[in-house]
Amino acid sequence: MKPMRPRTAVRAAATVAATMAATVAAAQDAGATLYDQQCAVCHAAKGEGIPGFAPRLAGELGARAAKASGREYFAQLVVSGMMGPIVSGGEKYNDAMPAFASLPDGQLVAILGYVLGELNGVAPEHRVSAQDLAAARQRALAPNEVRKLRDR
Ligand code: HEC
Repeated sequence: MKPMRPRTAVRAAATVAATMAATVAAAQDAGATLYDQQCAVCHAAKGEGIPGFAPRLAGELGARAAKASGREYFAQLVVSGMMGPIVSGGEKYNDAMPAFASLPDGQLVAILGYVLGELNGVAPEHRVSAQDLAAARQRALAPNEVRKLRDR
């Protein structure tokens, strides 16, 4: 292969960057749409939650996402669901979060990308990855066991 001339290389790099930006934007759009379809009924349109029923997601998840154990919890939560009392934003909750194992990994990554990125300002490297989801599917905990992951 002939080496690229500098200007051609710059143009190619710009095209790659634009494509990547478009891909990220498309994944975020997909995540928002999927969130509306799968999660908003309980957690509300912008992740405000429904006090006493489903916890607030917006602005509440950043500290957990910063830790590997927190990302493990989020991945297991969407794969297996969760049951057991929790306190979030000073409110008590004790209902059941359904499992979403029937959704493909790509959709779960997109949804959690939206919830963590858009609703919690979490940087891409601290969002839940496809590897995290694969590990969660392998482990497949019972909903009351998932609850214990939240305490770490
Ligand atoms: C049928 C209602 C319902 C739906 C639909 C639902 N959730 Fe939940 N979710 C809950 C409930 C209830 C809890 C708290 C469970 C508990 O108290 O153990 C919860 C907990 C959570 C938590 C943990 C919050 C924390 O503070 O630890 C996250 C994150 C979450 N849900 C994300 C999602 C996402 C993402 C979706 C869509 C894929 C979704 N939920 C769909 C009801 C729901």
